[in-house]
Amino acid sequence: MDKGNKTILVTGGCGFIGSNLVRYLLRLRPGWTIVNLDALTYAGNPANLADMEINRRYNFIHGDICDHRRLEKLFKDYSFDGVIHLAAESHVDRSIFGPMKFVRTNVEGTCQLLAASLESWRRNGEPQDFRFLHVSTDEVFGSLGPEGFFRETTAYDPSSPYSASKAAADHFVRAWYRTYGLPTIITNCSNNYGPYQFPEKLIPLIILNAIEGKELPVYGDGGNIRDWLYVEDHCAALLKVLEAGQPGRTYNIGGGAERRNLDVVRQICKLVDRCLGRGRDQDSQCLISFVADRPGHDRRYAIDASLIRSELGWQPENNFESALEKTVKWYIANSDWVTSVRSGEYRNWIKTNYSDRG
Ligand code: NAD
Ligand code: TYD
Repeated sequence: MDKGNKTILVTGGCGFIGSNLVRYLLRLRPGWTIVNLDALTYAGNPANLADMEINRRYNFIHGDICDHRRLEKLFKDYSFDGVIHLAAESHVDRSIFGPMKFVRTNVEGTCQLLAASLESWRRNGEPQDFRFLHVSTDEVFGSLGPEGFFRETTAYDPSSPYSASKAAADHFVRAWYRTYGLPTIITNCSNNYGPYQFPEKLIPLIILNAIEGKELPVYGDGGNIRDWLYVEDHCAALLKVLEAGQPGRTYNIGGGAERRNLDVVRQICKLVDRCLGRGRDQDSQCLISFVADRPGHDRRYAIDASLIRSELGWQPENNFESALEKTVKWYIANSDWVTSVRSGEYRNWIKTNYSDRG
């Protein structure tokens, strides 16, 4: 795909990664028009892109990826040159309490989007530079022991309803490439962090609780390991894959920053305390509380990102320590945003997930 005038559909653009991506694409590709299709679930917040509303190259469409008719019309209204598909139910703990929503959006929604893309691609004469980029997760590979890394060839072995639904979606994306020739690409990325992440996920939840002096819940023994990637580095990888990745391929994306959860939580405490000028007697680490583990909790994720590095020349620009500090400062500086996303639904979720963990 060349860098000229393009019209790109981004699904889930009002979520965490989607809003960072829309902003990134509008900045890096001044000739592109971005259409953002988002159903505005609890995780989708138009305020995440409020600063983009005056941009004439940005269009927001309120709609559901499961709505076949809506998709048909959308693909007729705009002749998309590419689709970057991020819309999803994305939180493992929520998938444990209510898996069916994950099946609907992540599996059925992805298939509806594939079907609409295929129809439009055929109508437009099967342009070979069209791309359907499906944004997936490293969680499809399951859990690692202390050694080894996920490679593109690692067998799928998902543990949670969330990762199982993403794995199923990945299979359908591959099927649309092999069966119908739709030029699809899949990326499997590790845990992201950065501005605009909904405070149900570990890093923003701990930052906000530490700021407010609330308990800091650590599941199990806190020894689970995640690989962390700053969201803007993920956006840069997605743009590279969209423009230069090979159809039919999968690319693993990772930060090369494996950390134990407990170490991440401790580091956030130090950063919050330092940024707020707290004294030694106000150490947030006192708020750490070990709570009941997540069922089916994957122990370790780690990515071998050598393919995207060697083939597309991508590597992360941000290191974990400095990008975590940027993230803490962003949450401290954006208390209005925090207030706006913590609706009644958010408070209900906190009660549902944490009240019985002890
Ligand atoms: P998020 O939960 O912050 O945002 C999801 C967005 O999708 C929201 O704006 C929501 O309104 C929208 N949405 C949900 N259901 C929809 C539907 N039926 N129709 C249209 N829109 C719908 O998620 P995120 O963390 O930004 O993740 C985005 C994508 O990246 C997901 O596909 C996720 O699986 C993948 N991913 C996330 C991470 C991570 O660490 N956050 C890592 C790897 C991959
Ligand atoms: P999370 O941010 O939910 O991402 P994922 O489950 O997709 O990796 O969780 C990251 C890690 O932090 C995971 O091992 C679960 C753990 N965790 C806690 O210990 N406490 C919490 O309150 C949350 C939300 C997560």
